[in-house]
Amino acid sequence: MKLTLKIWRQQDAKSKGKMVKYNLDNVDEDMSFLEMLDILNEGLIEKGEEPVEFDHDCREGICGTCSLQINGRPHGPDRKITVCQLHMRSFKNGDTITIEPWRAKAFPVIKDLIVDRSAFDRIQQAGGYISVGTSGNPVDANAIPVEKEMADQSFNAATCIGCGACVAACKNASAMLFTSAKVSQFALLPQGQVEAAERVQNMVKQMDLEGFGNCTNTGACEIECPKGISLENIARMNREYLFASVKG
Ligand code: SF4
Ligand code: FES
Repeated sequence: MKLTLKIWRQQDAKSKGKMVKYNLDNVDEDMSFLEMLDILNEGLIEKGEEPVEFDHDCREGICGTCSLQINGRPHGPDRKITVCQLHMRSFKNGDTITIEPWRAKAFPVIKDLIVDRSAFDRIQQAGGYISVGTSGNPVDANAIPVEKEMADQSFNAATCIGCGACVAACKNASAMLFTSAKVSQFALLPQGQVEAAERVQNMVKQMDLEGFGNCTNTGACEIECPKGISLENIARMNREYLFASVKG
């Protein structure tokens, strides 16, 4: 396949970035998107030019670091996959592909396609811990009954990989889907009840402090989320927050 790539290049957080055009003519349709970028970078290094910086770690849809806006869509054209799971067969010979970093005030660009997503870490840290009795023998895993439906919903919420696509997809750069997934994974379980009120209040407060926008229920986050995190989590977080505020 022959491709034209338009890639955001930015030297550092303070520099002004711009789109730069590259031509690639040896792309196999079975390559992953990141392998295609590897080929581009090998060519750039051979020519003595600076490679394009992009984030990645697991390359199997687990770590959430491969955050790229491809042709205007977080994680590219296919649904429920991350960039590292995207393959070049999703594009056509002769295509022009634009590749940009996430665009959000709370995710400043570090270099080229890499953004600083530590705001998400701070939201999770604000959530704190879960009380677990540590004296005596370890508690049997089945000692606390959990309804199957609740366990499933909690597990689904916990599949959020913190990639930030929900923020990138949202016109307000809201982090409600991410934060609500992290609230829900504990709020749905009996083990998460002791600190539930404090947790939701602290996480929402931190989310606002980080400069994420408000949710206006457009639903773009749910559509672009590679893990299919549901908007129901946002509704649950709003209920949890209201309950915590009333409780005082
Ligand atoms: S909710 Fe989805 S899109 Fe948002 S950070 Fe989690 S996995 Fe990524
Ligand atoms: S590199 Fe880990 S999710 Fe893509």
